[in-house]
Amino acid sequence: MIIGVLNQKGGVGKTTLSLNLAAAYADDGAKVMLVDADPQGSSLRWSSARAENVAPLFPVVGMAKPSIARELPVIARDYDVVVVDGAPRVSELGRAAIMASDMILMPVQPSPFDIWATEDTVQLIREAQIFKPSLTAAFAVNRKIANTAIGRDVLEAFAEADFPVLKAQVCQRVLYAESAMVGLSVVEAAPYGDAAREIRRLATEIRGFGQGERKAA
Ligand SMILES: Nc1ncnc2c1ncn2[C@@H]1O[C@H](COP(=O)(O)OP(=O)(O)OP(=O)(O)O)[C@@H](O)[C@H]1O
Ligand SMILES: [Mg+2]
Repeated sequence: MIIGVLNQKGGVGKTTLSLNLAAAYADDGAKVMLVDADPQGSSLRWSSARAENVAPLFPVVGMAKPSIARELPVIARDYDVVVVDGAPRVSELGRAAIMASDMILMPVQPSPFDIWATEDTVQLIREAQIFKPSLTAAFAVNRKIANTAIGRDVLEAFAEADFPVLKAQVCQRVLYAESAMVGLSVVEAAPYGDAAREIRRLATEIRGFGQGERKAA
């Protein structure tokens, strides 16, 4: 399964969710690869930081090139799960990363502005689905404030959106930045902590996310 973590909006948690999801799958025994499809190279930098501290948990490779659409599905046959950390901006690269994927995960912060700002990415996914009808997509709430309910305005914005929102939500927690600094994931930094629990829950929901859950256009 190739999971493309994409959103044209910058700083929404694409890299954070990508590397922590990859770690959760690897920790669960899956053969995993993390692909950095962002020229910024954040996932690659994370893996460099990791190399100074601990052993690799999975390979991290850079593939910020349009040929990812054709090349990645071939390489992915050797893996159970491939997570693609996508670039912000709608570009040829974004389009190619979408075409390479089986499922698109769009991290969004719980604000109507952030949901509305996914419009161009949603459009790209819609276009890709014409060529690849099996492609699925969902939103994942990131940086929710713990112990607060998602506001009515946010729920309304999701209700109007083209794709479903996953039940598993990720909260705002310092551990995400702290662990990434030293090349760790939250499932390693605090295996029984709240962050690890919410990432594992998200990972499980993504793997179970199928065609049947696709929201009708
Ligand atoms: N759940 C979270 N809790 C706390 N901090 C978070 C969380 N998710 C992301 N962050 C922080 O927010 C910042 C942006 O996150 P991240 O780099 O993952 O976003 P991105 O979408 O990959 O950004 P870009 O568009 O630049 O690639 C980082 O400093 C990261 O540590
Ligand atoms: Mg990033």
